[in-house]
Amino acid sequence: MAVPFFDIHYNLDEDTQQRILARWQGILAHGGFVNGPEVRELEAALAEFLGVPYVIGCSNGSDALVLALRAADIGPGDEVLVPAFTFFASAGAVARVGATPVFVDIDPVTFLMDPADAAKRTTSKTKAAMVVHLYGRAADLGPIRKAINAAAGHEVAIVEDAAQAIGASHPDGPVGGLGITSGWSCFPTKNLGATGDAGFASTADAKVAERMRRLREHGGGRQYYHDEVGYNFRMSSLQAAGLLEQLPRLTEFNAARAVGAEHYEQLFTAAGLAGSADSPLQLPERTPGHAFHQYVIRSSERDALRTYLQERQIGCAVYYPLALHLQPCFAFLGGQVGDLPHSERATAEVLALPIYPGVTPAQREELVAAVAGFYADVAPSRS
Ligand SMILES: Cc1ncc(COP(=O)(O)O)c(C=O)c1O
Repeated sequence: MAVPFFDIHYNLDEDTQQRILARWQGILAHGGFVNGPEVRELEAALAEFLGVPYVIGCSNGSDALVLALRAADIGPGDEVLVPAFTFFASAGAVARVGATPVFVDIDPVTFLMDPADAAKRTTSKTKAAMVVHLYGRAADLGPIRKAINAAAGHEVAIVEDAAQAIGASHPDGPVGGLGITSGWSCFPTKNLGATGDAGFASTADAKVAERMRRLREHGGGRQYYHDEVGYNFRMSSLQAAGLLEQLPRLTEFNAARAVGAEHYEQLFTAAGLAGSADSPLQLPERTPGHAFHQYVIRSSERDALRTYLQERQIGCAVYYPLALHLQPCFAFLGGQVGDLPHSERATAEVLALPIYPGVTPAQREELVAAVAGFYADVAPSRS
């Protein structure tokens, strides 16, 4: 049986499609195609869902991070701490506002920014830290804040990259409300997926929210009058309408992801592939509030395992194959192999398995049986 990594239609059943089409017809009738009433309705619904007072809908998650950084007053001359192991946009946004990304290593178990390493790389120019809630696991901001503030000798702004963490929660408070600003993505594969590009920024500060609203539309409070140079980061009403149909199902979808993660853990443990220090696989920790945007295992035989699974039509993916300090576009910053060892090791060992809500128990069983087959046939010394 083939096991797809992802099925774009999992949240687009006939009923949902009809409801989205009805909303789209309404938009054709009223004509407010961009930043229309659906965008305002979505912003209010998201603010309520997230427990964060202000949400600003925009073009996509990458632009949301630019809004978040600009509204936190980050620009040329500023250094921003960014994990070296994350999606490119986390660091791309820093470069786009003219600031300098300073790459920080990750904790090898959580894949999240390591507070001690962040402190080591903090200087008097460090103005912000872009904390990424990677794979849907909420980072603990307290220890990061404490370590970098002490190292900087001043208050360092925390900007959250919550693109992968919609629906994730944290004991200290809502993801997206603990930093000064946050950026979120509604790319179709995200936990809350649109039918095109979409994203939003959030904040608990009314003034910062107002600034993000202005920056979204070329930096003007009044049409054709511009206080500062902003962007066209407006949101399509069509995307907002689709997301309004998806949002009520997000909690149920995230619960299905958590069930999938628990099932994988049972299966891998029962197969003797995980659960002890000498097991060949390291599984992700199932922490409370984890949104499991991705379910990512580690294997030191990752590339051979990936090929073995792909040959059997079993979906898997590598997020991400090259750490950001080694990307050609950041070569001018002087990053070298060996600078960020945990990030570099992760790029060689991580493998994401199918976790979207449509994965069936039988598909997970098939996948784990195939992984067991790999360790029996190809890498028996590791099983
Ligand atoms: C961690 C992270 N940050 C930012 C983004 C950017 O979001 P978008 O693709 O909507 O621009 C993504 C999307 O993949 C992401 O995973």
